[in-house]
Amino acid sequence: MAPIALESPNINENFNDHRDGLALEATSDDIDDVNVLRAAMKVKKGIATQEEQDIYEQSQFDAQKDKTQFRQYEDACDRVKNFYREQHQKQTVAHNLKARNDFKFKTRAEMTIWEAMEKLNTLIDESDPDTSLSQIEHLLQTAEAIRRDGKPRWMQLTGLIHDLGKLLFFFGSDGQWDVVGDTFPVGCAFDPKIIYPGTFEDNPDHSDPIYSTTHGIYTPGCGLDNVMLSWGHDEYLYHVVKDQSTLPDEALAMIRYHSFYPWHREGAYRWMMDDHDKEMLKAVQAFNPYDLYSKSDDMPRAEELKPYYMDLINEYFPKSVLKW
Ligand SMILES: [Fe+2]
Ligand SMILES: [Fe+2]
Repeated sequence: MAPIALESPNINENFNDHRDGLALEATSDDIDDVNVLRAAMKVKKGIATQEEQDIYEQSQFDAQKDKTQFRQYEDACDRVKNFYREQHQKQTVAHNLKARNDFKFKTRAEMTIWEAMEKLNTLIDESDPDTSLSQIEHLLQTAEAIRRDGKPRWMQLTGLIHDLGKLLFFFGSDGQWDVVGDTFPVGCAFDPKIIYPGTFEDNPDHSDPIYSTTHGIYTPGCGLDNVMLSWGHDEYLYHVVKDQSTLPDEALAMIRYHSFYPWHREGAYRWMMDDHDKEMLKAVQAFNPYDLYSKSDDMPRAEELKPYYMDLINEYFPKSVLKW
């Protein structure tokens, strides 16, 4: 799609726009492909829930395409394995404390939501339009699929913004590994249901006398609000919007947990949930198919859709310029 002229967001001088956004997106696409594959595998093995089965049937898979798609997904698995090896080694309690501290004491940019969408689009996408979606296209497709199904306005807006946290890559993240990828709690034992669980052996927390125990620094039933999830685009955006929007808890959960596959898909870490999280889990599971399976939908036209979504943004963000 044609680039859209940027208004003038106020961006900190340390902003690193020389980073390879395309490489980040290639990894992110592979991660999504692998999650699609894992869902399909569950269906094939007959261990999917009815809901997962329904989602699978509506998804991009079909009988003829299956063979080639599986081969592509296997290749994607090989590529993401190295990514996860690095992520699983480096996502420690110490790193997460530092990332949160950095977040608290810095404002990286001041921009509106739409400016952030355009910024992310410019930074990541010079990709081949035939094979890959631009950031704005993925965000709009997710939002439009939610809107088409008659879901509430706040959920449409959540679809529109859910990946804006990827801006973190240009705001001094340490690498791709603390921006994208499935997320998991730190401070307690890494659950074997996390993707590539064998790659945690080089993580210093793996042999820590407290962090390596089942509950680690947490108490059963403590609630996910009290749990540190590995730092990345989900957690970052959640922190940005939770005090700067009037979005409901379900929307904040969809943002914070959308990559927490071990929890929302694999059923791990249920012991840390409180009653509120049970409701949030339903919301996150309802959101996931729109994120993962809207990519083959028609290409949305950003300029035509902008007025509709600007109304939505204005409804839930009282101050148009956000601190990022
Ligand atoms: Fe995401
Ligand atoms: Fe997404």
